[in-house]
Amino acid sequence: MASATTAKAWRFTSTGQPSEILRLEEVPMPTLPPPPALLFSKKRNNKASSADREQEEWLIVRVAYTALNPGSQFHFNVIPAFARARTCTPELDFSGTVVDVWRPDQHDSASRGDQGPSRGFSKGDEVIGFMPITYTYPTGDGALTNYIRVPARYVIRKPESVTLKEGAGLMCASCSAVMLTDEAHVKRGDRVLIVGASGGIGTSAVQLAKSLVAESGGEGLVVAVCSGRNQELVLGLGADEVIDYTKHEDLAAELTRRFADKPFDAILDVHGNQAVYVQCANYLKAGADYVACSAQLESWTLGHFLRTFWLIQCNTYWPLSCWLGGTGRKFKLIAMMDPGRALMEKTASLAEAGTLKVCVDSVWEYENALQAYEILISGRARGKVLVKW
Ligand SMILES: NC(=O)c1ccc[n+]([C@@H]2O[C@H](COP(=O)([O-])OP(=O)(O)OC[C@H]3O[C@@H](n4cnc5c(N)ncnc54)[C@H](OP(=O)(O)O)[C@@H]3O)[C@@H](O)[C@H]2O)c1
Repeated sequence: MASATTAKAWRFTSTGQPSEILRLEEVPMPTLPPPPALLFSKKRNNKASSADREQEEWLIVRVAYTALNPGSQFHFNVIPAFARARTCTPELDFSGTVVDVWRPDQHDSASRGDQGPSRGFSKGDEVIGFMPITYTYPTGDGALTNYIRVPARYVIRKPESVTLKEGAGLMCASCSAVMLTDEAHVKRGDRVLIVGASGGIGTSAVQLAKSLVAESGGEGLVVAVCSGRNQELVLGLGADEVIDYTKHEDLAAELTRRFADKPFDAILDVHGNQAVYVQCANYLKAGADYVACSAQLESWTLGHFLRTFWLIQCNTYWPLSCWLGGTGRKFKLIAMMDPGRALMEKTASLAEAGTLKVCVDSVWEYENALQAYEILISGRARGKVLVKW
């Protein structure tokens, strides 16, 4: 059978909503070795030294599933065209099977008759990957395609007990959840509040927080904020109490009423609720940090993005003193720019151990990716929205 010469990819060139700008296109099948522009570009990953770039292994992966992330709205709407490739495939997370491998020294060692032990991946390996925006924005190579050419450092082996479907949903959201619990130093016996507990990151954060606070029989507490329709879901993931934010016009006042006399050791804000941060000295212990991974944008325009960016800077750097208008508690925003393999491996091993299960909202055939984006953009997904290839 002749091998395919084309692949499929959702791509965009202009700015706007996915339904306006994304097109499913036939594109040339990616091949190895990668073109010199990718191999030697300093722009595509400023973390890698030139020696690393010249030495690194590359893979072609036949994609099984791509996970959608809300951050793609930033790619579609905010990033100016000059700051990204002209034609872009969106998305970062994928799972699939390695169909080709290339190493820079492959040719030399073959001619020496010295193949040596494989240092990396082999054809047929099942993998999960997370391409950081530092790679996808300048190259235009994202994960919403059925064949990906990718540096091996963005890929790890899929644990056997994790399915390809779960694996695709594991990286960006669950790595973010791990970062949140790490940054907040969540530990045995802690009382933890999670705001925005029912989405991709929130569902992972609830499970992780519960496993940490309850370690070795610890009597910690996990309180989850979500809408009532997701109450059973988050209780099933380990939350001890649920607060339905739709029932409280002033959520911060409700938190003060319920928790002022027994404040939290950590607050993880996945949704980005500024009012909950401003009032948090009422229900977060002195010396504890308010750790967020998001801030609410009024709309996906550059102007609103800059305004939100300014708010985050004020939250982060304004003096804590209440006399100077501070909140009394330190604000930390985590940024999942490039998780690195250590965090990817740690997150995968939590899934392998059963500590983390990926909650899947829905799976869509690749032709229906625009409908999948409707769910994501609604802001009401319960866990991850996946596209199947
Ligand atoms: N900093 C980083 O590096 C980083 C990395 C990844 C993502 N993010 C950001 O983190 C945020 C969450 O990402 P995600 O993947 O978890 O998103 P997601 O899966 O789209 O989250 C959807 C969830 O948000 C909940 N929600 C909506 N309005 C809410 C409200 N007012 N209060 C509490 N929960 C509410 C919904 O729950 P209900 O239906 O129950 O309302 C839904 O379950 C996004 O803004 C994303 O851009 C940041």
